[in-house]
Amino acid sequence: MKFFIDTANLDQIKEAKDLGILDGVTTNPSLMAKEGITGKENIYRHYHKICELVKGDVSAEVISTDYKGMMKEAKELAEIAENIVVKVPMIKDGIKAIAELKSLEIKTNCTLVFSAGQAILVAKAGATYISPFIGRIDDTSWDGMQLISDIFEIYSLQAYETEILAASIRSGLHIVEAAKAGADVVTCPLDAILSLLKHPLTDIGLQKFLDDHKKAQAALSKS
Ligand code: E4P
Repeated sequence: MKFFIDTANLDQIKEAKDLGILDGVTTNPSLMAKEGITGKENIYRHYHKICELVKGDVSAEVISTDYKGMMKEAKELAEIAENIVVKVPMIKDGIKAIAELKSLEIKTNCTLVFSAGQAILVAKAGATYISPFIGRIDDTSWDGMQLISDIFEIYSLQAYETEILAASIRSGLHIVEAAKAGADVVTCPLDAILSLLKHPLTDIGLQKFLDDHKKAQAALSKS
């Protein structure tokens, strides 16, 4: 399973990259706004900076919601860097744009997916990635992870090539469950990635190893 980081914050992207496990980045208009990046020129410059930092796929989302506008934006975004993946919303014109972008060999990530039916259309259109939003489904008291399992089952049976990118991840447990459900990629906030490092028995065990080593060294120097 590939690990993407779900942020537009350059420091967090660098921190995840330094860990040596980062395969790509996803952003969305809300994440760009959170960093205070506004205006087309600044936004595109920021995507360029991210693409220079990370060689893997970087998702950049269109703002238009009509076919013509999405196609124009997608072509402009794809010009920024080779590793740009154009993120397109799961709407009628979005599906049409994804199918056309595939024929132009521009990679796409279909975002805001909440049902298995939507997932079938996304794969038929030929998206590179599909982003089912786990956390937002959980927020409505439905089981977000069940959607990943359902899409995995359908895509496996039908031999669809679209990669399942589990999005709206809120915790380390979500990452583990996404891996078990067959996600190809998981995109997470930095905190969720770092939470995977933690286990109290690791800390206790490491302390004991270091104490035992220290004791053995002290005994050696006395003999
Ligand atoms: C990433 O591609 C999505 O836009 C993101 O994971 C949404 O996460 P949220 O539900 O925490 O905003």
